[in-house]
Amino acid sequence: MNLIDVKNLLFKYKMYSGEKEEVIEHTAIDNISLSIKKGDFVGILGHNGSGKSTLAKQLAALLKPSSGVIYVGGMDTAKEEQILDIRKTAGLVFQNPDNQLIGNIVEEDVAFGPENMGIPAEEIEMRITKALASTGMTAYREASPGALSGGQKQKIAISGVLAMEP
Ligand SMILES: Nc1ncnc2c1ncn2[C@@H]1O[C@H](COP(=O)(O)OP(=O)(O)O)[C@@H](O)[C@H]1O
Ligand SMILES: [Mg+2]
Repeated sequence: MNLIDVKNLLFKYKMYSGEKEEVIEHTAIDNISLSIKKGDFVGILGHNGSGKSTLAKQLAALLKPSSGVIYVGGMDTAKEEQILDIRKTAGLVFQNPDNQLIGNIVEEDVAFGPENMGIPAEEIEMRITKALASTGMTAYREASPGALSGGQKQKIAISGVLAMEP
């Protein structure tokens, strides 16, 4: 079974055009189909504004298809009752880590996701250790995220998502 299946995904959004004085419908994703298997590493290339981030948000069920269908771990992202299970399955790291970092120290930040999932404290402790080791950020566990470089902040944001074990 594929981990992710996207079939004929179409995504439209509406925006007000001051020039035309009306709401205009734009197409951000126009009929995309793709499959991703467990263990695959897939890169999606395209110029700015071509819809990469919009597709990523679709895969994490932060946006819903206008038409077409997306299955993540066999779950349909359009089905409201499966949203939480889909978000536990698909983690999303944003381009700008400042949008994702909320803790005063790194370990607090990495713990935020698992804490909200109701994971027990001892288990969170282990997940922080593992997530920071896997991004090479163990030495920064007690650091302030604000004092880190952009790349280090991205590694902390990735650690935070890894700690949710999506
Ligand atoms: N809900 C929305 N409202 C306004 N513009 C949107 C919306 N969704 C997507 N867009 C636009 O669609 C295009 C695709 O954006 P995006 O997915 O961020 O591209 P990329 O990540 O490839 O740079 C951009 O022009 C973006 O401004
Ligand atoms: Mg983008």
